[in-house]
Amino acid sequence: MRSHYCGDLRAEHIGEDITLSGWVHRRRDHGGVIFLDLRDREGISQVVFDPDREESFNLADSVRSEYVVEVRGTVRARPEGTTNKDMGTGEIEVLGKELIILNKAETPPFQLDEHQQVGEDVRLRHRFIDLRRPEIQRKLRFRSQITHNIRNYLEDNGFLDIETPILTRATPEGARDYLVPSRTHEGSFFALPQSPQLFKQLLMVSGFDRYYQIAKCFRDEDLRADRQPEFTQIDIETSFMDEEGIMGLTENMIRELFTELLGVDLGQFPRMPYSEAMKRFGSDKPDLRIPLELVDVADLLQDIEFKVFAGPAKDPKGRVAALKVPGGAELTRKIIDDYTKFVGIYGAKGLAWIKVNELEKGAEGLQSPIVKFLGEDVAMKVMERLDASNGDIIFFGADKETVVNEALGALRIKVGEDMNLIEREWAPLWVVDFPMFEETSNGGMTALHHPFTAPSCSPEELIAEPEGKLSRAYDMVLNGTELGGGSVRIHDQAMQKAVFKVLGISDEEAEEKFGFLLNALKFGAPPHGGLAFGLDRLVMLMTGSASIREVIAFPKTQSAACLLTDAPGEVSAAQLRELNIKLRKTP
Ligand code: AMO
Ligand code: AMP
Repeated sequence: MRSHYCGDLRAEHIGEDITLSGWVHRRRDHGGVIFLDLRDREGISQVVFDPDREESFNLADSVRSEYVVEVRGTVRARPEGTTNKDMGTGEIEVLGKELIILNKAETPPFQLDEHQQVGEDVRLRHRFIDLRRPEIQRKLRFRSQITHNIRNYLEDNGFLDIETPILTRATPEGARDYLVPSRTHEGSFFALPQSPQLFKQLLMVSGFDRYYQIAKCFRDEDLRADRQPEFTQIDIETSFMDEEGIMGLTENMIRELFTELLGVDLGQFPRMPYSEAMKRFGSDKPDLRIPLELVDVADLLQDIEFKVFAGPAKDPKGRVAALKVPGGAELTRKIIDDYTKFVGIYGAKGLAWIKVNELEKGAEGLQSPIVKFLGEDVAMKVMERLDASNGDIIFFGADKETVVNEALGALRIKVGEDMNLIEREWAPLWVVDFPMFEETSNGGMTALHHPFTAPSCSPEELIAEPEGKLSRAYDMVLNGTELGGGSVRIHDQAMQKAVFKVLGISDEEAEEKFGFLLNALKFGAPPHGGLAFGLDRLVMLMTGSASIREVIAFPKTQSAACLLTDAPGEVSAAQLRELNIKLRKTP
C-alpha cells in the first residue's frame, strides 16, 4: 500500500512512480486542478489531480478532510515560483494517477490546525484526532527517543530492567493511594504503587545490584500542570554506591541525553544545600535562570513600631525578606496590585514595596507606602543591605517562614518571567542536605522524602534530637522543576526502627505496613540507594511544553478523569456484589 512515507519525498525522487497512503490533510480546488495535501506520520506531500484523468479527478473532488486514501502517481518538480522552503517536501509534488479511498471520515470535530480555538476538553474527548497534529506527533516521537536513549545508557552501565507489581500494598510517598478491591479476599484492597520504592529496595537485597524500570506510578493528589494521577518514572536503584556515585552516574545520563538529542551542553551541575535554596530562593527547586534573590532583613526591622514587620521579625518561626527587582520602579500601581493578589494565593497578607527613585535624597527619594513606618535610618540600612540603586523596586514579605518562602519564591519567578529577566535557557542543579523531617500542622513529624531515606547521623543521635538532622537525599532540579529525587537508603534495622520511632509509627504499625521490608533488612541487605526521574516532566522541559498533558498520549484532566473513555465509570450492581461492596449513596 505504500512505497514511501508522504513526508520523505525529496527532489531525488523526481521521475519515480510511487505509492503513498495517508490522511487527507486539506483538499484545495484551484480552477480545475485539485490539490490534496496527504499526511502521514512523517509529514505532508502535495498531490495534484488533473481533469484529464477523469475517474481519479472525480474521486479526488469527492474526498474530504481526514479521509484515508491510497495514491499512485509520479513525483515531479513543483513549477517555478511554487516551491515551499518551509516544507521538507516543498520542492516536489506528486502527479496523482490513481486514487483509492480506503476509508471515509465524518467531518472532524475540529480542524487539526484550528486546535487552539477549541477547548482542551473537546480535544481530549477526541484525543485520537488531536494526536494526529504534527506538533504532538513530534513530541511523542521525541519521548520515545528519550526513553530509547536512557535505556541504552542504563543497559550500557549494567542496569537490568525488572518489572515490579502494579497490584500491591500502599507505598508511602506522601500522596493518597488508588485502591483496587480484591474479589478473592473479601474486604481487602490492593493499592496501586505510588512508586516501585519498596520493591526496588528488595531487588537490591536479592543481589541484582543495578535495577531500572520505566515505571507507571499512581498518586491521588491535587493536579497541576506538572502533575498527573498516573505518571511515569525512570526508576533507578543501585547497591554499594554512595550518593557521589549515584549522582555522578545519573547526572551524566541527563547530560548525555541533552547533548545527543538537543545538542545542548548542560555542563557540571552545581550543588546547593536545601537551607541555602530556601534562604536565597524561597524554594527547594530554585529556578536559577532568574537572577533575583531573597534577602533577609528581619534583624533591621525587629525594633520598629510597624507590627506587620516587627512581629514576624521577632518570631523564631517568622521571616522578613526582601526581593530587589532592578528596573522595577517603572511598574505601575495596577501591576503591583496584581502582584499583591498573586502572593495572596500563597497566604501572604500583603506585599509592601519601596520604589528607589533618587537614593541620593535619602528617604525622600524613596516612594513607598511603608517608608514612613520604617523611618529614615532603618530605610537606608535596608537600602544598603540590598545594594539598591535608582530604578529598583523592592518587595517585602513578612509572615511565617513558610508563607514568605512560598509567596516571595513564586513572585520572584513571576516577575522574572514578566520582565524577561531569564538569563539562560537551561539551569540544572542538585539540591542536597535536606532535613530528615518536617513538622506537620498538628505538631508531629513527617519524612521530607520517604521513611526509608538514610539520615546522615547515627540512630542514637537521631532519636536524641531529630529536629534539624539532615538526610542523605538529593533532588535534581531543572529550570525550577523537580526532575528527580532519591537518596541513600537505610539498610539496617536499628536505623529503620529509629526513623519509624521519630515518625510516631509504632512497632505494630511498621510490622503491618512494611513488615516485609523490615524482614528483608535482617537477611543481608547491602548498602544501597537510587533515585527516580519524572519522565513526563523531562519530556515537557525538553520539548518546551507548558504542561505534561502535552507529552502524554492519553492524559487525564485536572479532575483526574479520562474524557476519551469516560473513566472513571460506574460499575454494575453485579460487579459490586461480587466484590462485596455496597455504595453508601447510589449515584
Ligand atoms: P518522588 O516522589 O520525588 O520520589 O518522585 C520522583 C519524581 O517523579 C516525578 N513525579 C511526578 N510526575 C508527574 N506527576 C506526578 N504526580 C508526580 N509525582 C512525582 C517528579 C519527581 O521528582 N521513590 C522515590 C524515588 C527514590 O527515592 O528513588 C520517589 O518516588 O519528577
Ligand atoms: P497596612 O498597614 O496593612 O495597610 O500595610 C501597609 C503595606 O504593607 C501595604 O503595602 C501592604 O500590602 C503591606 N503588607 C501588609 N501585610 C504584609 C505582610 N505580611 N508582608 C508584606 N507586606 C505586607
